[in-house]
Amino acid sequence: MRIILLGAPGAGKGTQAQFITSALSIPQISTGDMLRAAVKAGTELGKQVENVMNSGGLVTDEIIIALVKERITQPDCANGFLFDGFPRTIPQAQAMVDAGIDIDRVIEIRVDDEEIVSRLSGRRVHPDSGRVYHISHNPPKVEGKDDVTGEDLVQREDDQESTVRKRLAVYHEQTQPLVSFYQSMEKLGGGLQFISIDGQDDVQNIRQQLSEVLTK
Ligand code: AP5
Ligand code: ZN
Repeated sequence: MRIILLGAPGAGKGTQAQFITSALSIPQISTGDMLRAAVKAGTELGKQVENVMNSGGLVTDEIIIALVKERITQPDCANGFLFDGFPRTIPQAQAMVDAGIDIDRVIEIRVDDEEIVSRLSGRRVHPDSGRVYHISHNPPKVEGKDDVTGEDLVQREDDQESTVRKRLAVYHEQTQPLVSFYQSMEKLGGGLQFISIDGQDDVQNIRQQLSEVLTK
């Protein structure tokens, strides 16, 4: 199955992606995680994107489309994949259509802006795996440590409140139009299903709702 998780920064895409990908045995393709790995490794790509990521802007469509097209040719994508944080502009979505990459489900996770600011201020991440926690809503077993490796958790560079507000503005302007893009595509009857769920519920309830819509 090919799935897109659509939602504002902090909506819970990465959190829910962990459950879906293990239930369906498909890889999570998070463009954010891929770019952060490039920044950490100090590659040419990392150097190109670091400033724009830290300021809360979007990396260019050309870079992102090339990165994703290359990633989905890898063998682990043969039975599908889950896009997390991609596409986030109309040109990115159109590039998939033009390349004949059909999507089965687009799932929008809706969360209010104020709730997002509070979630992101408490977020902690394990940089190497991309595993995500929240100091009170989804705490690790041992404070400040990753559940699997026991390594230190960190705060993301772009989770300061002013940067979060910029990311939200960018989301509303550039990514939210994808909701009507995919709703129109659903009406064309090619098999794509658009589903919108309320993301204000707790992590387990959202996980339950997602597992119901994905087994239909
Ligand atoms: P990216 O990494 O994609 O960040 P994002 O979309 O801003 O999303 P986040 O990772 O912040 O949020 P999330 O929805 O995954 O939430 P999470 O599960 O962590 O992108 C980063 C940057 O890379 C972009 O700004 C851009 O510069 C660049 N980039 C990436 N892709 C790009 C693209 N396609 N085009 C151009 N540029 C691109 O949850 C958040 C917190 O809330 C956690 O602490 C979690 O524990 C907690 N939480 C989750 N669910 C709940 C719940 N139900 N209740 C309470 N707390 C919850
Ligand atoms: Zn994420």
